[in-house]
Amino acid sequence: MDAAVSADGRHALTASFDNSVGYWSLEGEDVRWLDGHRAAVKTAIFLTEGFAASGGDDFTITLWNLKDGTAQARLEGHKGQVAGLAVSPDGSLLASASWDGSVGLWALPDGANVAMMTGHGGVVNDVGFSQDGAQVYTASADGTIRVWRVAEASETRQLVQHGFGVNKLVVQDDWLAYGAVDGGTRIIDIESGDVIADLTLDRRPILSMALSPDGSELAVGDGEGFVMTVSTDSWSITGDYKAAGKGPVWALDYTSDSTSLLAGGIDDAAYIWPAHNDLSAPIMATEERGFLRDPDAMSNGERQFRRKCSICHSLTDDGARRAGPHLGGLFGRPAGSVDGYIYSDTVAGLPFAWSDETIDQLFDLGPDHFIPGSKMPMQRIVKPEDRADLIAFLKDNT
Ligand code: HEC
Repeated sequence: MDAAVSADGRHALTASFDNSVGYWSLEGEDVRWLDGHRAAVKTAIFLTEGFAASGGDDFTITLWNLKDGTAQARLEGHKGQVAGLAVSPDGSLLASASWDGSVGLWALPDGANVAMMTGHGGVVNDVGFSQDGAQVYTASADGTIRVWRVAEASETRQLVQHGFGVNKLVVQDDWLAYGAVDGGTRIIDIESGDVIADLTLDRRPILSMALSPDGSELAVGDGEGFVMTVSTDSWSITGDYKAAGKGPVWALDYTSDSTSLLAGGIDDAAYIWPAHNDLSAPIMATEERGFLRDPDAMSNGERQFRRKCSICHSLTDDGARRAGPHLGGLFGRPAGSVDGYIYSDTVAGLPFAWSDETIDQLFDLGPDHFIPGSKMPMQRIVKPEDRADLIAFLKDNT
């Protein structure tokens, strides 16, 4: 859902639907999984040397020590998903954009809350600091971009009224770029709000934006799988190509030499492309995901699994990461026993093993009743025959 490359170009972060942040070496293929969020991770950024921050659907922000991969602070206070993060140029403040409609300011390195700024009339999607760190710019589903003074933690003005929700912004010295739900892609004068360039194409929504480290180029990713690159000198389009065969380009950042893009979408992988793709680079997410496959071609049990479970569980210990533990060897397996998976205290402490009966009860009553306090979503499978077919499918395939 988000990607970031470190300033020295040696590492990358990927924020994922599987509740984890991947911390990658771009020199090898090593990855360390930063586990701690209790729901999908929407955004991740590098802080000063050796530290990172991530925000997620669990309403929290986690500060990570990258040397050992431990969570060093968990910042609570937002009442909605944390969709965007930014660090001040001097590294002393973290700003957070939340779907609760507020903008958080947090002192670094400890993460103490400095302020929660309210005023937007909708969820806040993205945030950026001015180059001098004195102001914060925020993009909201209420269609506005607002400016806040950091020192007083108060709103000073509305810079943009776009009419449609604004998803992403990039803040520079004298200009600001933004991308909106209706596909609107504009560059505006940061003082007057006048439109410098309108780069809107017929694709929507805009989901990701990145500025190259040398400042020469802006990349824009959208819901239809395209990446467009734009010269910040002439504001002309320098490249435009389909990056994802299916679905959105949520995550985008330049590598440190400004020649390539790190990108991600609905696929299980992140990709690095030449920023100016000559179209010989592979397209991501070309395969149908299991949960999108033709339901008529499956047995009822498989259909139940694909639709209701596969987004969070793999059937075997295949190393694929999901929000829930893998289900390999499930029957007879003691509850809460997959090595390396971080269970809730509830499931970790369950005194039984999984069987036809316990799985049946899990979805007859629903996890919220059968094992209250677990991280599983509320979900019942009402028809006994659907539960029986699911259990038979799991037995054959786990
Ligand atoms: C949105 C994600 C999600 C969906 C959908 C989901 N699960 Fe889960 N499941 C989880 C999580 C997270 C856990 C770990 C719960 C905890 O630690 O509290 C879990 C735990 C389990 C466990 C216990 C595993 C163990 O090792 O003890 C079983 C069994 C299970 N799920 C089966 C299913 C089945 C079958 C379905 C589909 C009908 C399903 N789940 C749908 C997220 C999900």
